[in-house]
Amino acid sequence: MKHSHDHTSLDLSTNKSGYSDDKLKDIHVQSLREKPTKGFPLLPIFMLFLFSILVFGCAIYIALYSGGFDPLIYNEQLKPVKKLELTNSTVPFDYITHGKKIYNRDCVVCHQSTGLGVPGVFPPLSGSKWVTGNVHLSVNIILSGLMGPIEVGGTVYNSVMPPLGSQLTDRDIAGVLSFIRQEWENNAVEVSEDLISKLREEQGLRDTPWTIEELLSLYPEE
Ligand code: HEC
Repeated sequence: MKHSHDHTSLDLSTNKSGYSDDKLKDIHVQSLREKPTKGFPLLPIFMLFLFSILVFGCAIYIALYSGGFDPLIYNEQLKPVKKLELTNSTVPFDYITHGKKIYNRDCVVCHQSTGLGVPGVFPPLSGSKWVTGNVHLSVNIILSGLMGPIEVGGTVYNSVMPPLGSQLTDRDIAGVLSFIRQEWENNAVEVSEDLISKLREEQGLRDTPWTIEELLSLYPEE
């Protein structure tokens, strides 16, 4: 028994490479200690994700706020003091130039660039006593419109002009009236913005356009 035991243990404790039992155990313990990880390590993936978001965010920011890299939008050399001087200019507002723009946008289709209107359909503004006369009438015509018969330059028009008060500001109306009162053969004084505000408040915007009789009863011809 003793002999055979010795023989077996001798067989197991050495192999062809000459490693002992203990040596082999050591090697295996060592390799067991380093557990193989499954899948990818998480930290680098998280960092990649984080930086992608960062880069994406920066790109969006630049796209939104770069102003097309226009040098005029951000100018670090600009002196704010100079800019204030420019905007605080004392040049008065040019109502006639502004009014011409409004006329060409909102009146010209009917009253024409000649101010002569369309015979029998749209009355002329050039040479019209309604334009150069009491300004209260024409302000109200623009604010709430006009309907029914009106005689202009010897011709009776019986049509409707739509109200424009909701789409035009007081400044627009002051401008366009100042313009038509001085354009073509007309020669009357400019109209102030304050008067438009006052009439807009007094009369409000009416549901139905004025008739010339109503306007004449409010503002008798002088
Ligand atoms: C859709 C066509 C149309 C537009 C746009 C229009 N008008 Fe008129 N306008 C008329 C008509 C039509 C009359 C006559 C209404 C009537 O028969 O009662 C009139 C009458 C007038 C009158 C009084 C009559 C006269 O010839 O003097 C004035 C002033 C006037 N319009 C100014 C303007 C101004 C200023 C604008 C632009 C802000 C304007 N109109 C936009 C069609 C228009």
